[in-house]
Amino acid sequence: MDDSAKVPVLVTGGAGYIGSHAVLALRDAGWPVAVIDNLSTGFRWAVPDDVPFFEGDIADTALLARIFTEHNIGAIMHFAGSIVVPESVADPLKYYDNNTSRSRTLIQAAVEHGVPHFIFSSTATVYGEPEIKPLTEDDPLQPVNPYGMSKLMTERILADISRAHAMNHCVLRYFNVCGADPAARSGQSTAGATHLIKVAVETVTGKRDHVAIFGCDYPTPDGTGIRDYIHVSDLASAHVHALSALIDRPERSLTMNVGYGRGFSVLEVLDAVDSATGTTIVRKQEPRRPGDVPALISNPARIHEVTDWQPVHDDLETIVCHALAWERKLHDMRRNS
Ligand code: UD1
Repeated sequence: MDDSAKVPVLVTGGAGYIGSHAVLALRDAGWPVAVIDNLSTGFRWAVPDDVPFFEGDIADTALLARIFTEHNIGAIMHFAGSIVVPESVADPLKYYDNNTSRSRTLIQAAVEHGVPHFIFSSTATVYGEPEIKPLTEDDPLQPVNPYGMSKLMTERILADISRAHAMNHCVLRYFNVCGADPAARSGQSTAGATHLIKVAVETVTGKRDHVAIFGCDYPTPDGTGIRDYIHVSDLASAHVHALSALIDRPERSLTMNVGYGRGFSVLEVLDAVDSATGTTIVRKQEPRRPGDVPALISNPARIHEVTDWQPVHDDLETIVCHALAWERKLHDMRRNS
């Protein structure tokens, strides 16, 4: 895209795992960028020093108004939110507040200030417990937990808003996000992470003593759950391509899966970690984790049709190597702080 078409982008949740990679992708591609983050789960150090940073909440409309005006914001990438499925079951109001109500407030502020483009971080969790097959965006949306429903509600708000106001939007439904920036500028840093690859690399660095395999009796070839693991830097670059698509066709809004369109089982992931590290991590079979589904795989045809997004890290060993390099850096950072 021509540099003159690159509008300033406000990234909400830009100090978090995925948001910080989006900031790097935008900055590396020459887009002006600013960040708002309340640092509830993010880290100030995850945002480069030359990126304007506002510590605050997306429901603080006075702060938003100031940022929109001072930075002439032309697009929002909205990552701020809560993401832990079991927590959403225990505390649904937190999820409907953080992911739905506050998103509504942010969207209202964007409409009132005439921000023309909005990208929303959604999730494959909106498909609920689907059939075992690559999922298209038109498959049924039947979230089975408040986390998925809180995201779907915001998808619906955006659909109505774009019909009523001069703001187009793109919903990106992420599959299993993993890995870390190849140059180790950012990575997954939240304590108590539950994601498989993060848990596995924490086991390699000695932070944990084993990996639990949640369920070996799924209707899959080796009995363990299958997921479409996507490198966080490819996901971040998908956002930049989606934004270009919104700018190119302001009359059109989009909903797109972001995955590679292939799946790996838990055992295949753990084998990849072992072969990348030359170690054998301890595995323990445990019962199925409540809420887990047998398989979640994307059909990413639409994003390839609509944008020229080209994933470059679609390789499990690369993903594991980047996750591990980040885990080691994080380990050193924490030991030295
Ligand atoms: C995760 C997120 C969800 C997000 C989704 C899509 C959670 C709990 N889930 O889902 O919010 O929307 O990605 O991006 O935050 N597993 C083990 N042992 C472990 C951890 C996981 O066997 O220690 C298995 C799981 O049973 C599953 C697979 O590994 O089969 C992936 O699990 P995980 O990495 O937690 O992601 P999801 O639950 O698929």
